[in-house]
Amino acid sequence: LISKVIARQVIDSRANPTVEVDIILNCGAVGRGTVPSGASTGAYEALELRDGKTEYGGKSVRQAIENIEQFLAPALIGKDATKQAMLDHFMIGLDGTENKSKLGANAILGCSMAIAHAAANAKNEPLFRYLGGVNAKTVPVPMIQIIGGGAHAKDSIDIQDFLAIPLSADTFEQGIEMIANVYNGTKRVFEQSGRPLSIADEGGFWPTDFTCNEDGLRLLTEGIKEAGYIPGKDIGIAMDIAASEFYDRERGVYKFTLERQEYTTPEFVDLLCEWAEKYAIVSMEDCCSEFDWEGNRLITEKLGHKIQIIGDDLFTTNIKRIQYGVSQGACNSVLIKMNQIGSITETLDAIECTKNAGYLPVVSARSGETEDATIVHLAIATNAGQLKVGSIARSERTAKWNEGIRMEQELDSMAEYPSGSIFERIKK
Ligand code: PGA
Ligand code: ZN
Repeated sequence: LISKVIARQVIDSRANPTVEVDIILNCGAVGRGTVPSGASTGAYEALELRDGKTEYGGKSVRQAIENIEQFLAPALIGKDATKQAMLDHFMIGLDGTENKSKLGANAILGCSMAIAHAAANAKNEPLFRYLGGVNAKTVPVPMIQIIGGGAHAKDSIDIQDFLAIPLSADTFEQGIEMIANVYNGTKRVFEQSGRPLSIADEGGFWPTDFTCNEDGLRLLTEGIKEAGYIPGKDIGIAMDIAASEFYDRERGVYKFTLERQEYTTPEFVDLLCEWAEKYAIVSMEDCCSEFDWEGNRLITEKLGHKIQIIGDDLFTTNIKRIQYGVSQGACNSVLIKMNQIGSITETLDAIECTKNAGYLPVVSARSGETEDATIVHLAIATNAGQLKVGSIARSERTAKWNEGIRMEQELDSMAEYPSGSIFERIKK
């Protein structure tokens, strides 16, 4: 039974405050959840409650913490922590709004995560096994950022992420090594050319001298080769276009600031198809704006039989939006972010809904992260098959990759690793 709920304000990887919750059970077991935070957020995400006063430039989360202390904690104390779904729905009911705007999705999610960890600890099980049972055994294929741009690296490059996916690894640990080699290979390419180099929000390289967006694809391809791998065979390229960030909704055009180019929806879709043809791309995310269903349908029609087309801002981990997207033929994969919807139970439901539709779930971190590694367990618990956590450098990212290495070891001979075959599951 839950005996104590402690909430506090801590900082994330962007030096912004966020909510952390500790839940203590009668038996002495403790669980902690620290809530992540996005920058290129979708319009339909659950509400992240921020104070908007003077502390931390308006970003403090004191009200969310007060809501936990005043409303959620008294309601949770005395309850059975193993009843995750019941407790989550109880908190959702206390909030009573569609997007958790009364108490804050950050308040509810912090409690939800802490409850799950406390219950797993009480049972002396790793979280993935507590949530997923004996069938939880798929260690996810990592999707790792090498170059960052968009909202995570202002004035760099319009496209947000250029990522690498190991295709020929036999284990998660091997996959991590391959991408570490690609990361360092790309760094060498930079150093050899004497070009200026920064680090973007998620730990990837932030080039300051690109002249067009395609430069990102050229550089990553070079980095893969420099590491000694064959693009498309050993390593696949993934992109998060995050197109909502540069979509002019009024005029219905996509605007690349870097090369001062504008594209209508069909033109932009054609450009992405060209890139998919020319480079070893295996996955593309948010190809078109969250307001451009037709664009998302069109790109899926053209590329969905060949590569993974992920919806992130488009779906916001929301079952209603996923189901609508499926009915429209938009995308063939869903990015899963806990804080887009605001509780563990709803996140699990979104993953199930994704799988039932024949779409691939990709469990994901946010650009603002902490040492919390809950998502790794969520990915294994649901056999989701893929995990996206930003880059492979900086502790808020390595916290996740290292937890994956640990859990693969924990699963031992039970562990299953889908490698490049994960993409064969795409509905043809
Ligand atoms: P965000 O970025 O956390 O800033 O939304 C991650 C993503 O777009 O996938
Ligand atoms: Zn995204």
